Amino acid sequence: MDSIIVKGGGELRGQIPIAGAKNACLTLMPATLLSHEPLTLTNAPRLSDIATMTQLLQSLGAEVTSMQGGQVLAMSSHDIHNHTADYDIVRKMRASILVLGPMLARDGHAIVSLPGGCAIGARPVDLHLKGLEALGAVLDLKDGYVHAEARGGLKGATFEFPVVSVGATENVLMAATLAKGTTVLKNAAREPEIVDLAECLIKMGAQIEGHGTSTITIQGVDSLGGATHPVVTDRIELGTYMLAPAFCGGEVELLGGRINLVGAFCEKLDAAGVDVTETPLGLKVKRSNGRVNAVDVVTEPFPGFPTDLQAQMMALLCTAEGTSVLEEKIFENRFMHAPELIRMGARIDVHGGHATVTGVDKLKGAPVMATDLRASVSLILAGLAAEGETIVNRVYHLDRGYERVEEKLRAVGAHIERVKSQ
Ligand code: EPZ
Repeated sequence: MDSIIVKGGGELRGQIPIAGAKNACLTLMPATLLSHEPLTLTNAPRLSDIATMTQLLQSLGAEVTSMQGGQVLAMSSHDIHNHTADYDIVRKMRASILVLGPMLARDGHAIVSLPGGCAIGARPVDLHLKGLEALGAVLDLKDGYVHAEARGGLKGATFEFPVVSVGATENVLMAATLAKGTTVLKNAAREPEIVDLAECLIKMGAQIEGHGTSTITIQGVDSLGGATHPVVTDRIELGTYMLAPAFCGGEVELLGGRINLVGAFCEKLDAAGVDVTETPLGLKVKRSNGRVNAVDVVTEPFPGFPTDLQAQMMALLCTAEGTSVLEEKIFENRFMHAPELIRMGARIDVHGGHATVTGVDKLKGAPVMATDLRASVSLILAGLAAEGETIVNRVYHLDRGYERVEEKLRAVGAHIERVKSQ
């Protein structure tokens, strides 16, 4: 397993290009199953999760051709000969569950392994299943697999999500595009990735209104065509790298960044004393003075503060002036970066879903372990400003969601290198 070594110190200056959104691409790719025509995605990120989704779609019979170094994905689902998503792929990446709705809508049957939990929580898929049942699917759980049937096709319905769920909204939205009649999804997720999916489906011929609000209305159509669609900018990669100059000083321009993708996050940065300016190329970020201010953070569904930026923000607040309280309201176990930051000298008290961070002057480099995707990058950010050397182990988590992280940070002056495992 590779490690990444970060040497702390020095301001960061320059530009970081922001890639297409992992979490948009992982729902746009299964959309190919809804049509017999080609679907091409541009601005796709080059990540191991995308390779896993490619492998899954190909196992079903879809053609997925990666071009231009992985930035273009040309897909065609003309001939789907397998309707079973195997556990050995699904367990590697829970977003695999997103093939269920499209396969069911396309051919009236699908067998998909339950994803199982992950480090940050149990992460059930009951809302995906309830939503599809509302559209008339008959589901049966056997040997860890969901056996789904919709003989005669899916039928439009009104369904209210008891909890806002990004993935469940995506799964049911895709299925509803080919259901007979009208579907109204209430308490739907509003993330930019949902909007991006809806806009792609509309290009394919779907009839969707209200995406980006809590109520999405879909008029089912008989079939969908092909499209070419650019993957929306990754707001989590954007937010992550916006923090780099906040940790180290200097000024960094994030190419492709837009304020509307990170509104709530920018409000917190402003309160912490970090300046964000929109430029024709993206967002320019610098610290207003030598040390950031403590701020309180509560994670919420979009447009609230993103849970996927909570670990990174906590790392920043470890050296803030004052005490911050972070409340994680989306996942039940998303503070695993805290013990690793404590190894670096941070003062963090975790009680259930609350973490109280008392700022210290400086963190000290140490060997630390990545436990999940966003925790990994929070440790790298902490190492950028810490005294001495930080070794982040198990960086395979990192490669799932951040392309070329050491290249992007080195380009703005960071002392960071990857050590290949023997
Ligand atoms: C998506 O996960 C993202 N992943 C996550 O990003 C992100 O943290 C999350 O949305 C919240 O924004 C992808 O898009 C591939 P949810 P998802 O369904 O869809 C509960 C990253 O780091 N829930 O919105 O799985 C669930 O347990 C990843 O890139 C149910 O109870 O998240 C959680 O507490 C991590 N039943 C809450 O809802 C369900 O059927 C929100 O989960 C589904 C979810």
